[in-house]
Amino acid sequence: MRLSWGCLAGIAIWLVVLGTARSAAAGVDRDKLMSDPGTYATFVVYELDRDWWKLARPARAKAAKEVTDVFGKHADKVVVDMVLLRGLTDRADLLVRVHSTALAHNQELLVAFGATTFGRHLASRHTWSAVTKKPNYVPSLPDDMKATLKTQPEPGPKAYAILIPVKKDAAWWVAPQDQRNAMMKEHTAASLASLVPVKRKLYHASGFADVDFITYFETSKLDEFNNLIINLMKVRENRHNAQFGGPVVIGTIHPVDKILAVFAS
Ligand code: HEM
Repeated sequence: MRLSWGCLAGIAIWLVVLGTARSAAAGVDRDKLMSDPGTYATFVVYELDRDWWKLARPARAKAAKEVTDVFGKHADKVVVDMVLLRGLTDRADLLVRVHSTALAHNQELLVAFGATTFGRHLASRHTWSAVTKKPNYVPSLPDDMKATLKTQPEPGPKAYAILIPVKKDAAWWVAPQDQRNAMMKEHTAASLASLVPVKRKLYHASGFADVDFITYFETSKLDEFNNLIINLMKVRENRHNAQFGGPVVIGTIHPVDKILAVFAS
């Protein structure tokens, strides 16, 4: 059987359409996005208004479904996580954490989220955008420290998420590289004991936010996290923290649908 040019062109178009549909349905590669440098993250702390709770339960459940649908529509470009802040962080109910390869994708998702029924009842209290980068100081650390840094945090879900914005002072940025290397070596030495109980992620925010770093942690052992912070407050590098927190954002980690259910029920 001989196929005409028209028939071949038709098959080719279908292959392209199917390929596009498959890649959209596959969604974004979460593990790659969360480990690659050059990933853009946006963190928004929201407070829910009182009118939300005046809505009937079915209306709130419908609104929660609307949010899930919006997240689904953007799943080919962004990864969305939520942290339940209500009761643990002042004037805040929810942290939305968005990751993608372009800040504009984060914005598209957040604009669509803000336009949902649920989103219209939320006021953003803080917004920070930041980017992940290759390590600046790790290459200068001694080999044994580099090897220890490869220790993986304990597997499994963690109960708590903590976000701490950090701004360095001008003296930090003008200090020669070798002095900053030495101070970051002290920072690392003071925190190695926390590698297993605390999972950490560093974001660079200079130029996108009023702070230089968004530091984000997940842990089930808040007492060990408290020890870590105290250890880090004792090192010289801490003298260059012009802002540490302000606010500290703390909440519990749950899947998005579970958090929406808290607000829908
Ligand atoms: C398990 C605990 C921790 C370990 C092992 C750790 C280790 C490190 C290492 C190795 C770096 C250098 C990254 C690079 O090469 O660019 C770094 C950077 C940094 N860490 Fe930590 N850290 C920990 C916890 C914390 C905590 C609790 C904070 C503060 C809330 C913090 C704040 C920072 C900041 C702001 C930087 C960036 C410094 C800069 O680039 O100027 N770290 N950390």
